[in-house]
Amino acid sequence: MPTLFVSFGTRPEAIKMAPVVLELHRREHFRVVTCLTGQHREMLDQVIQGFALPVDHDLDVMRAAQSLTHITTAVLSGLEPLLALEAPDMVLVHGDTTTTFATGLAAFYQQIPVAHVEAGLRTDTLYNPYPEEANRRLTDRLAEVLYAPTPAAREALLAEGAAPEGICVTGNTVIDALLATAASPAPAWEPRLAAALDRRGPKVLVTVHRRESWGVPMQAIARAIKSVCADHPQTTFLFPIHLNPVVRETFRGILGDVPGVVFAEPLPYDAFVHLMKAVDLVITDSGGIQEEAPTLGKPVLVMRDTTERPEGIAAGTARLVGTDTTAIHTALAELLTDRTAYEAMANAVNPYGDGRAAVRIADHLEHLFGLRPEPPVPFAPVG
Ligand code: UD1
Ligand code: UDP
Repeated sequence: MPTLFVSFGTRPEAIKMAPVVLELHRREHFRVVTCLTGQHREMLDQVIQGFALPVDHDLDVMRAAQSLTHITTAVLSGLEPLLALEAPDMVLVHGDTTTTFATGLAAFYQQIPVAHVEAGLRTDTLYNPYPEEANRRLTDRLAEVLYAPTPAAREALLAEGAAPEGICVTGNTVIDALLATAASPAPAWEPRLAAALDRRGPKVLVTVHRRESWGVPMQAIARAIKSVCADHPQTTFLFPIHLNPVVRETFRGILGDVPGVVFAEPLPYDAFVHLMKAVDLVITDSGGIQEEAPTLGKPVLVMRDTTERPEGIAAGTARLVGTDTTAIHTALAELLTDRTAYEAMANAVNPYGDGRAAVRIADHLEHLFGLRPEPPVPFAPVG
């Protein structure tokens, strides 16, 4: 039985790898070894518990306010003996975090083939997002199997010279996780969120964490929220805030005493999905939320200068607004006051997946290892 070693370390990787790990376990054709790098701790453990994911190893690398060098070196040295012990036939990684790249490199050093889930996303701007654009380019170079979520991601890989036979278009596994979770009953809200949702007026869900926004851009985002609260006092911003201390200090410093802003701790995935369903719109710099909100028909303002996820923008559900205070204020105020502008963006579209990405990945792996005659039919977005 072939051994697959699946490594991930942060909240979004866990959410997006959960459908893959569960599907591979269900089929019983592989020995599946799950390794957490522990780049995140509480936010990772929340997802592990939520999806009841089996865990075989945990490198537990997280330190407070950690550097990229710490994550990279701790993952590399932690994985060296584990990969030698488990001797996998293939290592699976996800996305663009430093865990992703460091795991790919650790596997490469032991000449173990790498499969990269969510391959081919690009902004073509090396430092934006930082360090994710470099992480995904480097990981794709190390990988033998490239699971591109969309046709556009496949095109980006081909344009860089990737071998077509190594690429499989699967849809994004986050849509598998999202559709399953959104179809389940909403969990009970914690009292602060329940009270916030009961207020009159529009509700805006906020998440921000990107490294390239630390400092001035993040302060500008916070000021935009503050000024919209002043101009539109009936609006409530719900803000489950990332555990990164840099992010917390910035937002609590500028928004801590603003009555329209309700902070919460990072939410379990099921609560977060149902909160996305409950609000009117989303403002974020997250990658995964740019994929989820269009599926739920929620307008998204993307507070970044670039995006590797152009499909939501092409579909009209997402807008790239940058990190300038005035630009964010203007875009938000328009959606809060202009019903036509709001309705134009509130489209439920599925450019990122159909809920069957993990099935396609498992089918492809079975085909690759000679356990299944047919390769999967690639994902093709409707429309
Ligand atoms: C990381 C990824 C980013 C991804 C994001 C998802 C890198 C370099 N960055 O960014 O690509 O979009 O995760 O959230 O790979 N912390 C905790 N508990 C947690 C998680 C974080 O206390 O459960 C704090 C710690 O002080 C930690 C800090 O946040 O040092 C930063 O974590 P880190 O993983 O380095 O960066 P993120 O901004 O979370
Ligand atoms: N998310 C969550 N709880 C929260 C905030 C976000 O479960 O309080 C989920 C969200 O639905 C998405 C993922 O976490 O699937 C996004 O993670 P994050 O923004 O940390 O990382 P990114 O997507 O930018 O890499």
